[in-house]
Amino acid sequence: MKIVVTGGLGFIGSHTVVELQNEGYEVVIVDNLSNSSEDVLKGIVAITGKQPIFEKLDLREKAAVQNFFQKHTDISGVIHFAASKAVGESVENPLLYYENNISALVYLLQELQQKPEAHFIFSSSCTVYGQAEKMPITEDASIQTAMSPYGNTKQIGEEIITDVAKVSNINAILLRYFNPIGAHPSAEIGELPIGIPQNLVPFITQTGFGLRNELSVYGDNYPTPDGTCIRDYIHVVDLAKAHVVALQRLLNKKNSDKIEIFNLGTGTGSSVLEVINTFEKVSGKKLPYKIVDRREGDITSAYANTDKANNVLGWKAKSTLEDGLASAWKWEQKIRS
Ligand code: NAD
Ligand code: WQD
Repeated sequence: MKIVVTGGLGFIGSHTVVELQNEGYEVVIVDNLSNSSEDVLKGIVAITGKQPIFEKLDLREKAAVQNFFQKHTDISGVIHFAASKAVGESVENPLLYYENNISALVYLLQELQQKPEAHFIFSSSCTVYGQAEKMPITEDASIQTAMSPYGNTKQIGEEIITDVAKVSNINAILLRYFNPIGAHPSAEIGELPIGIPQNLVPFITQTGFGLRNELSVYGDNYPTPDGTCIRDYIHVVDLAKAHVVALQRLLNKKNSDKIEIFNLGTGTGSSVLEVINTFEKVSGKKLPYKIVDRREGDITSAYANTDKANNVLGWKAKSTLEDGLASAWKWEQKIRS
């Protein structure tokens, strides 16, 4: 079966391509290389021994999307990762985000709704919950006003897919990721942030390697046990496997609704200081850090209730925070050598 993976050369997409190929699917990657490199293909081939089809195209170009579906008529499913994801950049340039994250989605759905049957998986985010009232967060927690244009594109994206599914043959699964971290254990693929990393784990591994002087911990006066924020850090390989399980659910018509939503997290929250301590343990390095002011827009705590993913989807995260940080550290050392 041929599966389209948009954004398949990116961080989560590339790991998902590996899992799909390992399960025997034929993969067509669509990517415009705006936040990735064609070299990622080499890593995918090194792990799987299989060369995915790669179509370099920009999903913001409607004609290019139409041509793509005219060329590939035998597609069994689409996993849509392609999007811009930098929260701060989205505040500075909202239209870039609305154009990239929304128009690409609309063009894809326009093609898929013409098909007799379509299976669609969407990368959503725990950001839709904002600061949820209750921890751990269940899928029926209320959606909060988005704190950034990026977050808003995920909310709008979910709504667009839901509306279109009602009037078409599209069945979709919306996956709300918590905080993805880590790299493939082979260190053939991993996260490649451009410039100064905004996310905690790549900043830590770069600091551990000596590329950054010290980590700034954004606030230690939150109402948490050690005062630092709590997140649910999920290993990217676990996350990738969840996409294969979700796809199979759609392909086997096991979904109970045209739209289903699942949280993808570990169910365990870790504070920033716990992440630092765990990194020091797995790397054997002392991590220089200082406590600074809170970062605007940060929420205190977010971790997933994973019951629905465990019991309905039939997927469970297996890796620990140690595993995620060890693989991220191995990857950092590999790309700097
Ligand atoms: P990434 O930037 O590594 O991957 C995205 C890929 O999409 C890149 O390879 C990029 O070149 C490609 N792309 C972007 N715009 C495109 C376009 N118009 N046409 C074709 N290709 C395009 O990001 P990621 O971390 O792998 O995230 C994947 C998805 O998961 C995104 O939708 C993101 O919003 C979502 N998500 C990510 C996180 C996270 O923390 N990484 C958390 C929640 C949700
Ligand atoms: C994690 C924790 C920071 C960097 C973001 C997006 C979210 C989702 C995942 C896509 C927080 C602290 C961080 C640093 C620090 N992406 N931190 N020093 O903010 O939970 O979520 O990525 O959907 O939408 O907002 O992730 O990795 O940036 O931060 O102290 O240099 O680490 O305050 O508590 P976040 P993060």
